[in-house]
Amino acid sequence: MIQISNLKLSYADQFIFEIKNLNIMNEKTVIGIIGNNGTGKTSFAKIIAGLENSYTGIFKNTFTTFYLEQNYFRSNDVKLSGGEFCKQQIIEIFQKQCELLILDEVTVHLDYDNRKFLMNSIRKFKGIILLISHDPNLIEETATEILEIEDNKINLFKMNYNAYLFENENLTKQKQLSLFHYKQQKEKLEMNIKMQKINSQNSDRKPTRMSESDARLISSYNYQGKKNVDKNLKSLKTKLNKLVTEKPIYEFNKKISFTYGPILKQKNIIYLEEYNFKISNNDKVFICGNNGIGKTTLLNKIYQKLEKEYKTDISIGYLKQNMDDFYLNYTVVEYLKEMSTDNISNIRGLLSQFKYSETTFHKKLVNLSEGEKIQLHICILLTKKTNVLLLDEPTNYLDIKSIEMFEEAIKQYDGTTIIISHDQNFIKKIGGKILYLKEPN
Ligand SMILES: Nc1ncnc2c1ncn2[C@@H]1O[C@H](COP(=O)(O)OP(=O)(O)OP(=O)(O)O)[C@@H](O)[C@H]1O
Ligand SMILES: [Mg+2]
Repeated sequence: MIQISNLKLSYADQFIFEIKNLNIMNEKTVIGIIGNNGTGKTSFAKIIAGLENSYTGIFKNTFTTFYLEQNYFRSNDVKLSGGEFCKQQIIEIFQKQCELLILDEVTVHLDYDNRKFLMNSIRKFKGIILLISHDPNLIEETATEILEIEDNKINLFKMNYNAYLFENENLTKQKQLSLFHYKQQKEKLEMNIKMQKINSQNSDRKPTRMSESDARLISSYNYQGKKNVDKNLKSLKTKLNKLVTEKPIYEFNKKISFTYGPILKQKNIIYLEEYNFKISNNDKVFICGNNGIGKTTLLNKIYQKLEKEYKTDISIGYLKQNMDDFYLNYTVVEYLKEMSTDNISNIRGLLSQFKYSETTFHKKLVNLSEGEKIQLHICILLTKKTNVLLLDEPTNYLDIKSIEMFEEAIKQYDGTTIIISHDQNFIKKIGGKILYLKEPN
């Protein structure tokens, strides 16, 4: 079994999370691990797998454990990323004789068929699975318990995702107003309602005991007759209801502004003969298709063609799937300088919208979470003067709020975007043309 008590994890001066008590017993279960980018999901997984030891407190894991790391199915190597190859890998993973299997966002690179296949394997697995994912659909369909990392704490909910959402919605509402303020307001309103009721029953009689503020409140309508009193009672009730059902406020500013270069003179910027597919100026195009079909190769070809033929008119922003290992030991600040983007303060502004803290800016790239890495590259791209964006699976590893921000930016972008993606929600929200690559029959 897993036993954790009073465990704390920090990296230098950044406190990641604390776990007061957590026990995981030996029974078939799929624990969905959710939380925003950089909250510590991968770090938690690494502690469980025995790969991260810089915590304090008590931790014991007696299960035979297998950890599948976050980049496992990264499909940059085209030769190795065929659909059948991925499927074979999934089969091998689930054949491992282990009691505990940790899957860290392994579905992001999988195509539709392999994702389905993985989901079935998860459901059939006899032991315990810790399933880290930003994909609500995957969590909803497979998880039997939910472990949430939020506000530097870890909370385990012994229920499925939908029940968790219901439960959590109530928790969030209460968190909105500080508990004291909430109770105070609620009591005051309830008290007023009570008084109004008395008044409504005896609208000619003044309540004997009344605080000064309530007296003031009520005096404004106390003697206007029963009808008005009832009306006030109703509005107080609405106010109370509103207090209880206030929607959580997003701390996020969804509008991202960025600049782009001059619009091209020609209408069609590219024609893919092989596919009889035209990409025009300002189009939003998605390249879809199964693992290993050659989407990245095609995007590379498009890049080369554009660079060669339109070099003077076009400025391309290219988000590749893999980061250049060369820069891993640079800090974020050093990296930004190296990329010689002239508007570093702009990028920093954008990054802080993605919840980058001052500490994050001084971290080495090698230590960033996967989501933080993508956020960095997206922000560099968005602040560059470009008129064509080529994006290879940009939403992988991003949390839901970050994806929403990114969607907004792409919608507002005035140039041409060509995006490889498996993310059906994202594709639907952006809209545009889809180039679906298929094996020849
Ligand atoms: N070795 C390290 N040194 C310094 N900071 C680190 C180190 N490893 C992780 N971090 C930081 O700890 C935080 C948690 O990282 P972690 O990778 O666990 O996040 P995560 O929840 O898995 O995020 P994501 O959803 O982006 O994968 C991040 O802010 C990250 O920058
Ligand atoms: Mg992670």
